[in-house]
Amino acid sequence: MANRTITLNDGTEMPVLGFGTCQFGGPETMIKPLQVAFESGYRHFDTAYTYKNEKVLGKAISGWIEKKLVERKDLFITTKLPMYGVHPERVEKFFNSSLDRLGLDYVDLYLIHFPVCGKYNEKEDTYLIENSVFLTEETNYIEVWKILEKMVDAGKIKNIGLSNFNISQITKILNEARIKPANLQIEVHPYLQNNELIEFCKENGISVVAYAPLASPELRTILKLTGLPFRNYPSVMGDDTIITLSKKYSKSPAQIILRFTIQRGLAAIPKSLNACHIKENIDIFDFQLDEDDMSLLASLDKGNEGRVCRVDFKGILEHPEYPFK
Ligand SMILES: NC(=O)c1ccc[n+]([C@@H]2O[C@H](COP(=O)([O-])OP(=O)(O)OC[C@H]3O[C@@H](n4cnc5c(N)ncnc54)[C@H](OP(=O)(O)O)[C@@H]3O)[C@@H](O)[C@H]2O)c1
Repeated sequence: MANRTITLNDGTEMPVLGFGTCQFGGPETMIKPLQVAFESGYRHFDTAYTYKNEKVLGKAISGWIEKKLVERKDLFITTKLPMYGVHPERVEKFFNSSLDRLGLDYVDLYLIHFPVCGKYNEKEDTYLIENSVFLTEETNYIEVWKILEKMVDAGKIKNIGLSNFNISQITKILNEARIKPANLQIEVHPYLQNNELIEFCKENGISVVAYAPLASPELRTILKLTGLPFRNYPSVMGDDTIITLSKKYSKSPAQIILRFTIQRGLAAIPKSLNACHIKENIDIFDFQLDEDDMSLLASLDKGNEGRVCRVDFKGILEHPEYPFK
Protein backbone atom coordinates (compact mmCIF):
# COMPACT_ATOMS: atom_id res chain seq x y z
CA MET A 1 0.00 0.00 0.00
CA ALA A 2 1.09 3.59 -0.45
CA ASN A 3 1.17 5.94 2.52
CA ARG A 4 -0.55 9.32 2.41
CA THR A 5 2.65 11.10 3.41
CA ILE A 6 6.37 10.78 2.75
CA THR A 7 8.75 11.46 5.61
CA LEU A 8 11.48 13.93 4.66
CA ASN A 9 15.02 13.63 6.02
CA ASP A 10 14.27 16.02 8.92
CA GLY A 11 11.14 14.07 9.92
CA THR A 12 8.62 16.41 8.20
CA GLU A 13 5.60 14.64 6.72
CA MET A 14 4.89 15.71 3.11
CA PRO A 15 1.49 14.69 1.64
CA VAL A 16 2.11 12.38 -1.33
CA LEU A 17 -0.62 13.99 -3.39
CA GLY A 18 -0.09 17.69 -3.94
CA PHE A 19 -1.74 20.26 -6.15
CA GLY A 20 0.32 21.71 -9.03
CA THR A 21 -0.41 25.32 -9.94
CA CYS A 22 1.62 26.09 -13.05
CA GLN A 23 -0.88 27.58 -15.47
CA PHE A 24 -0.83 29.71 -18.57
CA GLY A 25 -4.16 31.51 -18.29
CA GLY A 26 -3.29 34.21 -15.71
CA PRO A 27 -3.03 33.83 -11.92
CA GLU A 28 -6.75 34.40 -11.31
CA THR A 29 -7.59 31.18 -13.19
CA MET A 30 -6.24 29.34 -10.13
CA ILE A 31 -8.63 30.94 -7.57
CA LYS A 32 -11.50 28.48 -7.99
CA PRO A 33 -9.37 25.36 -8.57
CA LEU A 34 -7.41 26.11 -5.38
CA GLN A 35 -10.65 26.25 -3.42
CA VAL A 36 -11.89 22.99 -4.96
CA ALA A 37 -8.51 21.39 -4.22
CA PHE A 38 -8.60 22.50 -0.60
CA GLU A 39 -12.18 21.25 -0.16
CA SER A 40 -11.19 17.95 -1.80
CA GLY A 41 -8.49 17.39 0.81
CA TYR A 42 -5.27 18.67 -0.79
CA ARG A 43 -2.92 20.18 1.80
CA HIS A 44 0.26 20.22 -0.29
CA PHE A 45 0.47 23.05 -2.84
CA ASP A 46 3.24 23.54 -5.37
CA THR A 47 4.01 26.95 -6.79
CA ALA A 48 7.06 28.86 -8.04
CA TYR A 49 8.18 32.47 -8.42
CA THR A 50 7.84 32.07 -12.19
CA TYR A 51 4.21 30.86 -12.03
CA LYS A 52 3.21 34.39 -10.92
CA ASN A 53 0.46 33.00 -8.73
CA GLU A 54 2.05 33.06 -5.28
CA LYS A 55 -0.20 36.02 -4.29
CA VAL A 56 -3.34 34.10 -5.30
CA LEU A 57 -2.21 31.05 -3.36
CA GLY A 58 -1.23 33.21 -0.37
CA LYS A 59 -4.65 34.86 -0.33
CA ALA A 60 -6.36 31.46 -0.45
CA ILE A 61 -4.18 30.20 2.42
CA SER A 62 -4.87 33.22 4.63
CA GLY A 63 -8.61 32.79 3.95
CA TRP A 64 -8.54 29.11 5.01
CA ILE A 65 -6.55 29.94 8.15
CA GLU A 66 -8.72 32.95 9.08
CA LYS A 67 -11.85 30.83 8.74
CA LYS A 68 -10.16 28.23 10.97
CA LEU A 69 -10.53 25.56 8.28
CA VAL A 70 -6.88 24.60 8.68
CA GLU A 71 -3.82 25.45 10.72
CA ARG A 72 -0.65 26.61 9.01
CA LYS A 73 1.26 23.59 10.35
CA ASP A 74 -1.10 21.26 8.46
CA LEU A 75 -0.32 22.83 5.08
CA PHE A 76 2.75 21.96 3.01
CA ILE A 77 3.75 24.84 0.72
CA THR A 78 6.50 24.57 -1.88
CA THR A 79 7.88 27.39 -3.96
CA LYS A 80 10.98 27.76 -6.12
CA LEU A 81 13.93 30.02 -6.82
CA PRO A 82 13.63 31.06 -10.50
CA MET A 83 16.38 30.35 -12.96
CA TYR A 84 17.24 34.07 -13.07
CA GLY A 85 17.64 33.98 -9.27
CA VAL A 86 20.20 31.13 -9.18
CA HIS A 87 22.95 33.61 -8.34
CA PRO A 88 24.43 34.27 -4.89
CA GLU A 89 23.58 37.98 -5.16
CA ARG A 90 19.95 37.42 -6.10
CA VAL A 91 18.77 34.49 -3.96
CA GLU A 92 17.56 36.50 -0.99
CA LYS A 93 15.70 39.02 -3.11
CA PHE A 94 13.69 36.31 -4.88
CA PHE A 95 13.08 34.25 -1.76
CA ASN A 96 11.87 37.28 0.23
CA SER A 97 9.63 38.28 -2.63
CA SER A 98 8.07 34.76 -2.75
CA LEU A 99 7.52 34.77 1.00
CA ASP A 100 5.97 38.23 0.82
CA ARG A 101 3.66 37.27 -2.06
CA LEU A 102 2.59 34.13 -0.21
CA GLY A 103 2.05 36.17 2.96
CA LEU A 104 3.79 33.46 5.01
CA ASP A 105 6.42 33.45 7.75
CA TYR A 106 8.07 30.36 6.30
CA VAL A 107 7.75 27.90 3.40
CA ASP A 108 7.82 24.15 3.93
CA LEU A 109 10.01 23.45 0.91
CA TYR A 110 12.12 25.78 -1.22
CA LEU A 111 13.65 24.40 -4.39
CA ILE A 112 16.25 25.64 -6.83
CA HIS A 113 14.01 25.44 -9.89
CA PHE A 114 16.69 24.65 -12.49
CA PRO A 115 20.49 24.23 -12.32
CA VAL A 116 21.21 27.00 -14.83
CA CYS A 117 21.61 30.67 -13.95
CA GLY A 118 19.61 32.84 -16.32
CA LYS A 119 20.09 36.59 -16.67
CA TYR A 120 17.33 38.66 -15.11
CA ASN A 121 15.14 41.07 -17.03
CA GLU A 122 14.40 43.36 -14.10
CA LYS A 123 12.06 45.65 -16.05
CA GLU A 124 9.69 42.82 -16.96
CA ASP A 125 10.53 40.56 -14.00
CA THR A 126 11.35 37.59 -16.18
CA TYR A 127 14.07 35.89 -18.23
CA LEU A 128 16.37 38.09 -20.31
CA ILE A 129 15.86 36.94 -23.88
CA GLU A 130 17.53 38.51 -26.91
CA ASN A 131 16.82 37.39 -30.49
CA SER A 132 15.01 34.30 -29.10
CA VAL A 133 18.10 33.32 -27.07
CA PHE A 134 17.87 33.00 -23.27
CA LEU A 135 20.87 34.83 -21.81
CA THR A 136 22.64 32.92 -19.05
CA GLU A 137 25.52 33.29 -16.61
CA GLU A 138 28.00 30.94 -15.01
CA THR A 139 26.12 28.98 -12.34
CA ASN A 140 27.41 28.60 -8.79
CA TYR A 141 24.68 26.56 -7.17
CA ILE A 142 26.98 25.53 -4.29
CA GLU A 143 27.15 29.17 -3.13
CA VAL A 144 23.40 29.48 -3.67
CA TRP A 145 22.88 26.35 -1.56
CA LYS A 146 24.95 27.83 1.30
CA ILE A 147 22.70 30.89 1.32
CA LEU A 148 19.62 28.65 1.44
CA GLU A 149 21.13 26.77 4.41
CA LYS A 150 21.35 30.09 6.29
CA MET A 151 17.68 30.74 5.54
CA VAL A 152 16.84 27.36 7.05
CA ASP A 153 18.85 28.40 10.14
CA ALA A 154 16.80 31.61 10.26
CA GLY A 155 13.56 29.59 10.25
CA LYS A 156 12.29 31.03 6.95
CA ILE A 157 12.49 27.68 5.15
CA LYS A 158 11.77 24.28 6.70
CA ASN A 159 13.33 22.14 3.96
CA ILE A 160 15.51 22.88 0.95
CA GLY A 161 15.70 20.90 -2.24
CA LEU A 162 16.37 20.83 -5.95
CA SER A 163 14.43 20.56 -9.15
CA ASN A 164 15.63 19.34 -12.55
CA PHE A 165 19.13 18.51 -11.22
CA ASN A 166 20.88 15.36 -12.50
CA ILE A 167 22.95 12.86 -10.49
CA SER A 168 26.29 14.59 -11.01
CA GLN A 169 24.84 17.98 -10.03
CA ILE A 170 23.15 16.56 -6.90
CA THR A 171 26.42 14.82 -5.98
CA LYS A 172 28.24 18.17 -6.08
CA ILE A 173 25.67 19.61 -3.65
CA LEU A 174 25.83 16.52 -1.39
CA ASN A 175 29.62 16.84 -1.21
CA GLU A 176 29.46 20.44 0.02
CA ALA A 177 26.16 20.61 1.88
CA ARG A 178 25.81 21.10 5.63
CA ILE A 179 22.06 20.52 5.18
CA LYS A 180 21.41 17.71 2.68
CA PRO A 181 18.70 18.22 0.04
CA ALA A 182 15.35 17.00 1.38
CA ASN A 183 13.70 16.69 -1.98
CA LEU A 184 14.16 16.49 -5.73
CA GLN A 185 11.32 17.55 -8.01
CA ILE A 186 11.57 16.03 -11.48
CA GLU A 187 9.38 15.05 -14.40
CA VAL A 188 8.07 11.52 -13.83
CA HIS A 189 5.24 9.67 -15.56
CA PRO A 190 4.90 6.25 -17.22
CA TYR A 191 6.82 7.38 -20.35
CA LEU A 192 9.67 8.94 -18.31
CA GLN A 193 10.22 6.85 -15.18
CA ASN A 194 13.64 8.23 -14.20
CA ASN A 195 14.61 4.98 -12.40
CA GLU A 196 18.33 5.65 -12.03
CA LEU A 197 17.86 9.15 -10.62
CA ILE A 198 15.12 7.97 -8.25
CA GLU A 199 17.28 5.07 -7.02
CA PHE A 200 20.12 7.54 -6.40
CA CYS A 201 17.77 9.77 -4.40
CA LYS A 202 16.55 6.82 -2.32
CA GLU A 203 20.15 5.85 -1.51
CA ASN A 204 20.81 9.42 -0.36
CA GLY A 205 17.63 9.97 1.66
CA ILE A 206 16.20 12.48 -0.83
CA SER A 207 12.43 12.32 -1.36
CA VAL A 208 11.15 12.68 -4.93
CA VAL A 209 8.17 14.64 -6.21
CA ALA A 210 6.91 13.76 -9.70
CA TYR A 211 6.02 16.87 -11.68
CA ALA A 212 3.96 16.70 -14.87
CA PRO A 213 2.80 13.30 -13.53
CA LEU A 214 0.17 13.08 -16.29
CA ALA A 215 2.80 14.09 -18.86
CA SER A 216 1.45 17.63 -19.08
CA PRO A 217 -0.98 17.38 -22.02
CA GLU A 218 -1.58 21.13 -21.84
CA LEU A 219 2.13 21.91 -22.31
CA ARG A 220 2.15 19.83 -25.48
CA THR A 221 -0.68 21.91 -26.89
CA ILE A 222 0.94 25.20 -25.90
CA LEU A 223 4.32 24.31 -27.37
CA LYS A 224 2.60 23.28 -30.57
CA LEU A 225 0.91 26.69 -30.79
CA THR A 226 4.04 28.70 -29.96
CA GLY A 227 6.36 26.91 -32.34
CA LEU A 228 8.81 26.30 -29.47
CA PRO A 229 10.68 22.95 -29.62
CA PHE A 230 8.03 20.24 -29.58
CA ARG A 231 7.81 16.51 -30.16
CA ASN A 232 4.48 14.95 -30.83
CA TYR A 233 4.32 12.17 -28.23
CA PRO A 234 1.17 10.16 -27.96
CA SER A 235 -0.82 11.00 -24.85
CA VAL A 236 0.12 8.93 -21.79
CA MET A 237 -3.48 9.00 -20.54
CA GLY A 238 -4.51 7.54 -23.93
CA ASP A 239 -1.99 4.68 -23.78
CA ASP A 240 -3.62 1.29 -24.53
CA THR A 241 -2.13 -0.39 -21.44
CA ILE A 242 -3.35 2.39 -19.18
CA ILE A 243 -6.83 2.32 -20.75
CA THR A 244 -6.94 -1.48 -20.20
CA LEU A 245 -5.95 -1.08 -16.53
CA SER A 246 -8.43 1.76 -16.17
CA LYS A 247 -11.21 -0.67 -17.16
CA LYS A 248 -9.82 -3.48 -14.99
CA TYR A 249 -9.74 -1.35 -11.80
CA SER A 250 -12.73 0.87 -12.71
CA LYS A 251 -10.53 3.93 -12.25
CA SER A 252 -9.73 6.74 -14.69
CA PRO A 253 -6.43 6.68 -16.65
CA ALA A 254 -5.21 9.62 -14.50
CA GLN A 255 -5.97 7.66 -11.32
CA ILE A 256 -4.06 4.62 -12.63
CA ILE A 257 -1.04 6.80 -13.44
CA LEU A 258 -1.10 8.64 -10.11
CA ARG A 259 -1.56 5.42 -8.16
CA PHE A 260 1.40 3.90 -10.05
CA THR A 261 3.46 6.97 -9.08
CA ILE A 262 2.70 6.85 -5.37
CA GLN A 263 3.13 3.04 -5.22
CA ARG A 264 6.66 3.71 -6.52
CA GLY A 265 7.22 5.69 -3.31
CA LEU A 266 7.00 9.10 -4.97
CA ALA A 267 4.83 12.14 -4.35
CA ALA A 268 2.92 13.65 -7.30
CA ILE A 269 1.59 17.15 -7.99
CA PRO A 270 -0.99 16.93 -10.79
CA LYS A 271 -2.55 20.19 -11.91
CA SER A 272 -6.10 20.68 -13.07
CA LEU A 273 -8.55 23.52 -13.52
CA ASN A 274 -11.44 21.05 -13.76
CA ALA A 275 -13.31 20.32 -10.49
CA CYS A 276 -14.04 16.67 -11.40
CA HIS A 277 -10.40 16.04 -12.31
CA ILE A 278 -9.16 17.77 -9.14
CA LYS A 279 -11.32 15.50 -6.97
CA GLU A 280 -10.53 12.39 -9.01
CA ASN A 281 -6.76 12.94 -8.79
CA ILE A 282 -6.71 12.78 -4.99
CA ASP A 283 -9.17 9.90 -4.83
CA ILE A 284 -6.54 7.19 -5.28
CA PHE A 285 -6.24 5.75 -1.79
CA ASP A 286 -8.94 3.07 -2.00
CA PHE A 287 -7.30 0.67 -4.45
CA GLN A 288 -3.96 -0.96 -5.11
CA LEU A 289 -2.26 -1.97 -8.37
CA ASP A 290 -1.01 -5.54 -8.11
CA GLU A 291 2.61 -6.50 -8.76
CA ASP A 292 1.98 -7.70 -12.32
CA ASP A 293 0.29 -4.46 -13.24
CA MET A 294 3.08 -2.42 -11.60
CA SER A 295 5.53 -4.36 -13.85
CA LEU A 296 3.33 -3.79 -16.89
CA LEU A 297 3.29 -0.05 -16.22
CA ALA A 298 7.06 -0.09 -15.59
CA SER A 299 7.49 -1.53 -19.11
CA LEU A 300 6.01 1.65 -20.67
CA ASP A 301 9.14 3.68 -19.87
CA LYS A 302 10.65 5.41 -22.92
CA GLY A 303 13.54 6.97 -20.99
CA ASN A 304 14.65 10.44 -22.04
CA GLU A 305 12.62 10.07 -25.26
CA GLY A 306 9.51 10.33 -23.10
CA ARG A 307 10.48 13.71 -21.63
CA VAL A 308 7.94 16.48 -22.20
CA CYS A 309 9.42 19.40 -20.21
CA ARG A 310 12.74 19.58 -22.04
CA VAL A 311 13.48 23.27 -21.42
CA ASP A 312 15.63 23.01 -24.55
CA PHE A 313 15.43 26.68 -25.40
CA LYS A 314 18.30 28.38 -27.20
CA GLY A 315 20.84 29.59 -24.66
CA ILE A 316 19.74 27.19 -21.93
CA LEU A 317 20.33 24.05 -24.01
CA GLU A 318 23.95 25.03 -24.66
CA HIS A 319 24.69 25.96 -21.02
CA PRO A 320 27.27 23.58 -19.40
CA GLU A 321 24.81 22.87 -16.56
CA TYR A 322 21.85 21.96 -18.84
CA PRO A 323 20.74 18.82 -16.97
CA PHE A 324 19.02 16.57 -19.52
CA LYS A 325 21.84 15.63 -21.95
N1 LIG B 1 9.79 21.87 -11.28
C1 LIG B 1 9.50 22.04 -12.54
O1 LIG B 1 10.34 22.38 -13.38
C2 LIG B 1 8.08 21.80 -13.00
C3 LIG B 1 7.82 21.68 -14.38
C4 LIG B 1 6.50 21.42 -14.76
C5 LIG B 1 5.51 21.30 -13.80
N2 LIG B 1 5.79 21.47 -12.47
C6 LIG B 1 4.75 21.38 -11.43
O2 LIG B 1 4.01 20.18 -11.67
C7 LIG B 1 2.63 20.50 -11.81
C8 LIG B 1 1.95 19.53 -12.72
O3 LIG B 1 2.53 19.55 -14.01
P1 LIG B 1 1.76 20.04 -15.30
O4 LIG B 1 0.70 20.99 -14.88
O5 LIG B 1 2.74 20.51 -16.30
O6 LIG B 1 1.17 18.69 -15.90
P2 LIG B 1 0.19 17.51 -15.42
O7 LIG B 1 -0.24 17.70 -14.04
O8 LIG B 1 0.89 16.27 -15.82
O9 LIG B 1 -1.01 17.70 -16.41
C9 LIG B 1 -1.91 18.77 -16.28
C10 LIG B 1 -2.93 18.63 -17.40
O10 LIG B 1 -3.62 17.38 -17.25
C11 LIG B 1 -5.02 17.58 -17.29
N3 LIG B 1 -5.61 16.73 -16.25
C12 LIG B 1 -5.40 16.80 -14.91
N4 LIG B 1 -6.10 15.85 -14.26
C13 LIG B 1 -6.77 15.15 -15.22
C14 LIG B 1 -7.66 14.05 -15.18
N5 LIG B 1 -8.00 13.49 -14.03
N6 LIG B 1 -8.16 13.59 -16.36
C15 LIG B 1 -7.82 14.17 -17.53
N7 LIG B 1 -6.98 15.23 -17.64
C16 LIG B 1 -6.45 15.71 -16.49
C17 LIG B 1 -5.25 19.04 -16.95
O11 LIG B 1 -6.36 19.52 -17.68
P3 LIG B 1 -7.72 19.99 -16.91
O12 LIG B 1 -7.41 21.32 -16.32
O13 LIG B 1 -8.71 20.00 -17.99
O14 LIG B 1 -8.00 18.93 -15.87
C18 LIG B 1 -3.96 19.73 -17.41
O15 LIG B 1 -4.08 20.16 -18.74
C19 LIG B 1 2.66 21.93 -12.31
O16 LIG B 1 1.41 22.55 -12.20
C20 LIG B 1 3.74 22.51 -11.45
O17 LIG B 1 3.23 22.79 -10.16
C21 LIG B 1 7.08 21.68 -12.06
